Amino acid sequence: MTAPGDAHLVGFAELSATTVRARLLDAHDRFWAGDTRALHHPVWFHQFGGFGALAMSDDGEDVGYVLGVVTADRLAYLHLLAVRDDRRRSGLGRLLCAWFDALAVGTGARVVQAVTRPDNDAALAFHTALGASAHLSKDHAGPGEDRVVLTRGLLPR
Ligand SMILES: CC(C)(COP(=O)(O)OP(=O)(O)OC[C@H]1O[C@@H](n2cnc3c(N)ncnc32)[C@H](O)[C@@H]1OP(=O)(O)O)[C@@H](O)C(=O)NCCC(=O)NCCS
Repeated sequence: MTAPGDAHLVGFAELSATTVRARLLDAHDRFWAGDTRALHHPVWFHQFGGFGALAMSDDGEDVGYVLGVVTADRLAYLHLLAVRDDRRRSGLGRLLCAWFDALAVGTGARVVQAVTRPDNDAALAFHTALGASAHLSKDHAGPGEDRVVLTRGLLPR
């Protein structure tokens, strides 16, 4: 799949999960404002890597990625989506989401859902721009840990 600028998408299934995970954790702060290392559990790369894709520049740099899974009840859960700080607002996030949507629809998913912190303005604006509805879930991740659940319908092929 072709990405904006000098970037292209590669499914994690075609890459070494251990190597890519280590590279993304090394570059963590270029992708995330807060500490999301614990959310990069190896299972997302090794067992669920088939639902993920990496955006790479033509010179081999990692510039974005998406990780997720489709559940038994046809919910496409978008676990992590990030674009490197110098590549934002060029359509890369939209493209990574489109890649995940297409895969999810192909496995029968009808709805895609992402979860973010209430103060993540970029994530809220991004998912809302893609058509998601936002629902504040109190204590979602534990006492005092509210989250916003972003839900968007997927059109069957
Ligand atoms: C959220 C994120 C993935 C968006 O990636 P991106 O490549 O910049 O998004 P796109 O360029 O595809 O943007 C698509 C649309 O979303 C909206 N949007 C994206 N970022 C926005 C921002 N910071 N403020 C307002 N609107 C925004 C715009 O409508 C944009 O379209 P436009 O640029 O034509 O106006 C990126 O900001 C990011 O990596 N943030 C840090 C990681 C993170 O918090 N991820 C949470 C995902 S749940």
